[in-house]
Amino acid sequence: MKKIIEIKDLSVYRKNIKVLSDVNFAVEKGEFIYLTGKVGSGKSSLLKIIYADEEIRTGQVSVVGFNLVKIKQKEIHLLRRKLGIVFQDYKLLTDRTVYDNLKFVLEASGERSKSLIKEKILKILNIVGLKGKEDRMPFELSGGEQQSVGIARAMINDPELILADEPTGNLDEKSSDNIMDLLIQASKKGTTILMATHDFNLIKKFPAKVFNVEENNFIMK
Ligand SMILES: Nc1ncnc2c1ncn2[C@@H]1O[C@H](COP(=O)(O)OP(=O)(O)O)[C@@H](O)[C@H]1O
Ligand SMILES: [Mg+2]
Repeated sequence: MKKIIEIKDLSVYRKNIKVLSDVNFAVEKGEFIYLTGKVGSGKSSLLKIIYADEEIRTGQVSVVGFNLVKIKQKEIHLLRRKLGIVFQDYKLLTDRTVYDNLKFVLEASGERSKSLIKEKILKILNIVGLKGKEDRMPFELSGGEQQSVGIARAMINDPELILADEPTGNLDEKSSDNIMDLLIQASKKGTTILMATHDFNLIKKFPAKVFNVEENNFIMK
């Protein structure tokens, strides 16, 4: 099977503190994996390493075919094009519409055709249940709807891997279930998902493979 993430003997640091050691795991194409652990255990730090936002001091990390130990600053946008990233606090551009948030991503990845941009945006908004809301500003949407835009933004470039950092952390149960359904749907179509969460009820409700980070150690369950 094709490996989407491969990590060997990685230590994760924040400033000069080692937050995780001996991280070893591989994720294959199409897998849905939860990254669990208490608040402060290092889930977000590990995800940052995987999207090349944090320096690797020891260990080997390869993500969607890129060796992140050797990747050059100017190659990082090529890696990010193959990733979709979803955050707990959505991180939408608050000064522009839903449509323009999504257009921004497509243009950043080199898409120039106005008609193709429109087609892709309307298609993805339909998938995430936001048909007709393309002209809304983020503040005119509920939290659940804003996160649906976050999911649309992550999926619009048809990524190989979606990294989601507590994507349901700010949502009520109904919106949270909706976001989970979207991620699970994407994974059924072959997109690999790595999702950090400390919500064990959610994992019970939507069971999948779990990687756990605990007391400086990485444990595969
Ligand atoms: N920007 C930062 N600078 C220094 N330490 C940080 C920073 N961000 C997080 N940390 C520390 O790194 C550890 C792991 O944090 P984090 O990866 O955010 O954990 P989690 O996502 O599991 O809650 C915590 O002890 C946290 O305080
Ligand atoms: Mg975190």
